[in-house]
Amino acid sequence: MMNKKIVFLTGAGISAESGVKTFRDYDGLWEGHSVEEVATLDGWEKDKQKVLDFYNERRRQLGSVEPNLAHKLIGDLEKDYDVSVITQNVDDLHERGGSTKVMHLHGELLKMCSSIDKEKTLPYNDDIKVGDKHSDGSQLRPYIVWFGEDVTLIDDAVEEVKTADILVIIGTSLEVYPAAGLMRYAKSNCDLYYIDPKPKMSSGVAQYFTVIKKVATEGVKEFIYILKK
Ligand code: OAD
Repeated sequence: MMNKKIVFLTGAGISAESGVKTFRDYDGLWEGHSVEEVATLDGWEKDKQKVLDFYNERRRQLGSVEPNLAHKLIGDLEKDYDVSVITQNVDDLHERGGSTKVMHLHGELLKMCSSIDKEKTLPYNDDIKVGDKHSDGSQLRPYIVWFGEDVTLIDDAVEEVKTADILVIIGTSLEVYPAAGLMRYAKSNCDLYYIDPKPKMSSGVAQYFTVIKKVATEGVKEFIYILKK
């Protein structure tokens, strides 16, 4: 028999217990930085150095954080299930937690790219400075999907969700589209779970979900307990 397919859709909350700040919680990353400044194309045009400083700092921080139990348990599930992860996060904690099929909807902090062709990526190992050029002559930039840019992986993500037997949404405020709309593509008999200590789903949507109101590490443990019952 084919293994059941579990698709995880994760947001900043799954990395919170690893010490990576979320965006919209009170102590979120945006503190001191408005979204407009550091996560939009306009912000980039206005002040490239500020944007680069911000992502250089985020990238450096990755070296000092570790995957938590939630990432690791999801990685372990590959032994028994067909697992794929769609994440809005730009960190590599799912990969380090053992997941081998990870789709980064909003880009990756460990890659930089050309600013005229984002698919021309390079490893982002050192700070990027204004004036650092790709071999095509353009300014190097972080490989991040800013507001105002296309989410090029969304069609692939839709296909993953359509074929899921179980969809588990973890640690996201479901405010940012198109990621927040992905759940609509789940088939009618797909089992739906939402793990978040402060769930943001409207009650109209939440009625279709098993809502686990816990932090990611505890919530994923509970999900696995239900799964294997
Ligand atoms: P948000 O910061 O909007 O939401 C984080 C969610 O995680 C909230 O619902 C919290 O309640 C929840 N949370 C906090 N601690 C948690 C924990 N320990 N375990 C589980 N959940 C926890 O982050 P996202 O929804 O991921 O995009 O934000 C989406 C996008 O907005 C990001 O990918 C980013 C940002 O703009 C870009 O930078 C392009």
